[in-house]
Amino acid sequence: MKLPYAEPYKIKMVENISKSTIENRIEWIKNAKYNLFNLKSNQVFIDLLTDSGTGAMSDKQWSEIMLGDESYAGASSYFKLKNAISDILGFPYFLPTHQGRAAENVLFSALVKKGDFVPGNAHFDTTKGHIEFRKATAVDCTIDEAYDIENLFPFKGNVNLNKLEAVLKEHKNNIPFIIITITCNSAGGQPVSMQNLRDVKNLADKYNKIVVFDSARFAENAYLIKTREAEYKDVSIRDIVKEMFSYADVMTMSSKKDAIVNMGGFIGIKDEEIFKKATVFNIIFEGYITYGGMSGRDMNALAQGLHEGTEFYYLESRINQVKFLGDKLVEFGVPVQKPFGGHAIFVDANKILQHIPVEQYRAQILAVELYIEAGVRGVEIGTLLADRDPITKKDRYPKNEFVRLAIPRRTYTNNHIEYVAVALANVLNRSKKITSGYKIISEAPIMRHFTVELEKA
Ligand code: F0G
Repeated sequence: MKLPYAEPYKIKMVENISKSTIENRIEWIKNAKYNLFNLKSNQVFIDLLTDSGTGAMSDKQWSEIMLGDESYAGASSYFKLKNAISDILGFPYFLPTHQGRAAENVLFSALVKKGDFVPGNAHFDTTKGHIEFRKATAVDCTIDEAYDIENLFPFKGNVNLNKLEAVLKEHKNNIPFIIITITCNSAGGQPVSMQNLRDVKNLADKYNKIVVFDSARFAENAYLIKTREAEYKDVSIRDIVKEMFSYADVMTMSSKKDAIVNMGGFIGIKDEEIFKKATVFNIIFEGYITYGGMSGRDMNALAQGLHEGTEFYYLESRINQVKFLGDKLVEFGVPVQKPFGGHAIFVDANKILQHIPVEQYRAQILAVELYIEAGVRGVEIGTLLADRDPITKKDRYPKNEFVRLAIPRRTYTNNHIEYVAVALANVLNRSKKITSGYKIISEAPIMRHFTVELEKA
């Protein structure tokens, strides 16, 4: 028999988590204005809100914390991280930042101006936020297959080259860069193929544009290239990663994902001029060049995390745990985005709650019901997240109303995952009894989903 995959680590320390009753949770979520971000962590049993900063660091990473050099300038921790970024990712210049959106803020301050267009696959919400905040426009050129959850195309994060070229032609003087998010979180944690990365780079060269990778989950993207793109079957993860980044001029990184740390980010840059421009903003917003928003100890743990996060057996167990959840949900008849992505399973609330008007935020309803059922916290990736159109101020209804169940790295066992799947199956079985959703009572002008307050419609 083929041996099943198993985690290439064992547990050295545990953290207790809190159980509660349905009655508790009905009360708590009402007090939280039906916004899962407002819950206290001890009101949650299994937390799949995000895989960002919620992973478990290894004993080696914790050891690196003790070795951190907190010198203001020229710390050895900075050079340790610089070497890891250059060895693993191939960027000679880098700027540390406190997290991914800070990297976006610094880079976009240097490159994006009012009236610009920034095309790519589906932009993550902070990326889009930082573009729109500068009165520029994010243009989503993701392939159409991405929006059909049953379509088994293996690289639903790919950029549609025709759509991209049309934007490049129409706005050629107002495009600071093309940005590709690997894996594409907003399209369901879907990977981008090496072929597509190469094709986008060729198109960018034709129009003399630079390419930025939003790289939060680059290692998961590399694993999915290895397992889904035939010619990379025998290529190592490290070599795949190297080739992927050979097609980028700049990378932004939220290290809270694939570098398995709780906080941190950076910008990797190949061109000295861009590095110099961005450095000015990094010093203003983040900190001096050799720490920019991070402690020495955190840079150490991050450098170690880049090594561990790009190991094949770690990635194999990681991606297979996500698949374990996907397979269970499919077995229970829950409609989910297929093929499964890298960090999360995306559940299609439109299919489960089509009897409720879309104006009542179907994905939010499903996320709240899952919480009430079992204390499991997911997150809405639907109309609340999509924000209002900046011009018409009307709700933007995305093609999919998803609940994302993001799995923290090296944190939960498959027993936890099975519990989540059964909880969701129970919600599916009683879904016809859910007859209404929510209306907004208060919201922020941008990125409203974090703080929005809701009441029953
Ligand atoms: N880019 C992508 C693709 C992301 O998924 C995130 C964060 C960011 C950039 C911003 O990074 O949080 O370090 O500032 N995603 C988290 C999530 C929040 O839950 O998916 P950050």
